[in-house]
Amino acid sequence: FDTTNRDKFRPLYHHTPLYGWMNDANGLVYKDGEYHLYFQYNPYGSVWGNMHWGHSVSRDLVHWEHLPVALARDTMGHIFSGSSVVDLANTAGYGDGTIVSFYTSASDRNGQIECMAYSKDNGRTFTKYEKNPVLTPFDGLKDFRDPKVFWYEPQQKWVMIVSADKEMRFFSSKDLKDWTYMSAFGKGYGMQPSQFECPDMVQLAVDGDGNHKKWALIVNINPGCLFGGSATQYFIGDFDGTNFTCDTKPEVVKWMDWGKDHYATVCFSNTGERVIAVPWMSNWQYANIIPTQQYRSANALPRELTMYSEGKDIYMAVNPVKELEALRKETKEIPAFTVDNGKEFTIETLFDGGDGAFEMNIDLTTNADCSGFKLMNSKGEYIDIYLDMKDGKLVMDRVHSGIVDFGKNAIPHEKEAHDNRVKNSINYVDDFALATWGPLSKDKQHRLQLFVDKCSIEIFLDGGKVAMTNLVFPNEPYNSLSFYSRNGSTKVNACKLYALGL
Ligand code: FRU
Repeated sequence: FDTTNRDKFRPLYHHTPLYGWMNDANGLVYKDGEYHLYFQYNPYGSVWGNMHWGHSVSRDLVHWEHLPVALARDTMGHIFSGSSVVDLANTAGYGDGTIVSFYTSASDRNGQIECMAYSKDNGRTFTKYEKNPVLTPFDGLKDFRDPKVFWYEPQQKWVMIVSADKEMRFFSSKDLKDWTYMSAFGKGYGMQPSQFECPDMVQLAVDGDGNHKKWALIVNINPGCLFGGSATQYFIGDFDGTNFTCDTKPEVVKWMDWGKDHYATVCFSNTGERVIAVPWMSNWQYANIIPTQQYRSANALPRELTMYSEGKDIYMAVNPVKELEALRKETKEIPAFTVDNGKEFTIETLFDGGDGAFEMNIDLTTNADCSGFKLMNSKGEYIDIYLDMKDGKLVMDRVHSGIVDFGKNAIPHEKEAHDNRVKNSINYVDDFALATWGPLSKDKQHRLQLFVDKCSIEIFLDGGKVAMTNLVFPNEPYNSLSFYSRNGSTKVNACKLYALGL
């Protein structure tokens, strides 16, 4: 049937399903020049339900081709989130280089159990393993899902991490079919209390030093986001093949993204030294009622993860993949300028016929208390982004960004969901407010890289030390920019704009 786009908020260069509902990225795997993006998918409507694995494929992480459903819901239940590996050494016996995927079968009857499927045609179609499930919770745990499988080279074995309520459980296997319990990590760690979901674990060189590698255990939590709802945290530590041990005290929280619309983030397998993550760009607080209809939810931009040290601590830097530079169409450079205390510097028109799909790179130095800019449309809607130098925070305020009360635009059966939320006193305007991070330093140059695409803003600050991803629904695309400075002056050393298109 006709899948021509009917939603004005559909992003131009972010991956979305052609129609229907999407949540988590699943089974991300690279093989023979193709990046496979499977995803939690409901082909029967634009709200959560009837979970399948949808499938898209890309050769460059930028242009995506939509393919038929890869794993359909069956009599064992929903096909929930999971991962894929390339079985290079044929450990499972389906042939060298077979893609083998793991997912959770979820039903009231069986609970949440881990299943396997394999593909002999480069990830197009899958055969479900005849002896599924391969793993069930030994203690009957209700929340036991989202298996992440990876090869642990030093001990020539597979490791599976399963999110188990408020911890992660680790299992091992030689053949991908028989799994043995090894250990658990997470009780009392990080943001509390939250449900652990969608694990991943990657090893990275710290500060580019191949002799100093650390593991990052990525844990998606819901709720737990600083500003409500869903978010992604990570723990840095060591893994000896059996146990993960965390470098920091249990109460230390490291966020992979400081915005409200970054969730279920997991990484591609089989990409060698490169670690590439793909987030789902929404939040369970309102994902089902955002103002689109033909489809719901996009993925945030693919991000490359690296590790750096700061003092005694180690963090991940999160940057958009360099392949995205291919999207740059028209370039505009604004000569350097200074904004004095209380003054503004406005660029009336960013792009002729601006369609709300662009990138901005801003380098600034400030001695002010607050340096920022408003990204605006002609309806007076704006998003306010600033460096609060007093508190050392990056802030994105979307209170005036456009449609913030999704309920008003919800189609009738969703109105009920919205009204229930209001009854339960979740105030959309409040929880749409601020996202912050610190510290920042005065008189040091800071770089903000921003990606705007119809209904989303992603910021990467200072080489990915902070990533912040938020949805916005302006009634008209933003197409002007106004810088301001409070209690001091702001020097914009460089401001480069790129219109983006596929
Ligand atoms: C995370 C999640 C997963 C689950 C899936 C179901 O967003 O709740 O834990 O597998 O969504 O769609």
